Amino acid sequence: MQAGVLVLAAGRGERLGESRPKAHVEIGGRSVLAHSALALARARCISHVLPVVGPGAEEVLTALRLEWAGPAQLLDAVRGGATRQQSVAHGLDALVARAPELDWVLVHDAARCLVKPEDAERVLRAALASGAALPVIAVTDTLKEVSDGRVLKTPDRANFKRALTPQAFRIDLLREALEQAERDGFEGTDCSSLVERLGAVVVTCEGRAENVKLTTPQDLERMRDQLAPGIPSQRRVLA
Ligand code: C5P
Repeated sequence: MQAGVLVLAAGRGERLGESRPKAHVEIGGRSVLAHSALALARARCISHVLPVVGPGAEEVLTALRLEWAGPAQLLDAVRGGATRQQSVAHGLDALVARAPELDWVLVHDAARCLVKPEDAERVLRAALASGAALPVIAVTDTLKEVSDGRVLKTPDRANFKRALTPQAFRIDLLREALEQAERDGFEGTDCSSLVERLGAVVVTCEGRAENVKLTTPQDLERMRDQLAPGIPSQRRVLA
C-alpha cells in the first residue's frame, strides 16, 4: 500500500518570532521543511512527497531538491492558501492531478520536523480499515475549561488526547470532507476534524511525544539540541 504525503509548509508561524516563515528556518544547515520531507521520503509506504509552501520558498526548495535521496518521488511544490485547510485543499488537488493512481494521502505539518518514517507507516496501517487515522498522545496536565478567567469545570483528562501529524486518509474521503467543510464555512485546525464532521470513523494510533510541532523559540532550541547537537547555540543562530 503506497500513499502520497502533503508536507504543509505555508503560513508564517508568528509565534516563533523569526524573520522568515518557520518552515524555512534552518536547523543544522537544513530547513525545517527539508527535515520533515526527507524523513517521510524514507518511509516504505510513501511514494510521492508534495511540499505546500508560501511565498519566498525558492531557495529552500532548491536545497531540498539537491539533497533529495528518495526513495519516494519529490513532486514540484504548490502554493498554499491563507489557512492550513486551504493549503491542504491546494495540495490535494495537485496530488490527485499528478499521481492519479494513489488512493491514500498523508497530511503532515512540516513544523513537526522530528517526524520519523515509522510515524507514517504506523498511521497508514491504522487507517486501512476505516479510511482515516491519526496519531495521538496522552494529556498529562490537568485540564480546565475556563471562561473570562474563571474555571467552569475540570474535565476528566483520560477522555482527551493530543492530536499529532502525519494523519492518514483515503483520498476520496478527505476530498469529500474538505468540500463539505467549505460548503459549511467550517475551518478546522487539523484534517481529522473535517472527516469527523462527516460522521466517518477516525481511528487513533500511538503517537510519539517527541514528534512536537515547532511553535516557540524554546521548541527551536530543543530541536537544535536534537537535530544539530554539538553546535554551540551562538553559531546555530548565525548559521
Ligand atoms: O500555525 P501552525 O503551527 O498551526 O501550522 C501547522 C502547519 O500548517 C505548519 O507546518 C504550517 O507551515 C502549515 N500551514 C500551511 N498553510 C497555512 C498555515 C499553516 O501550510 N496557511
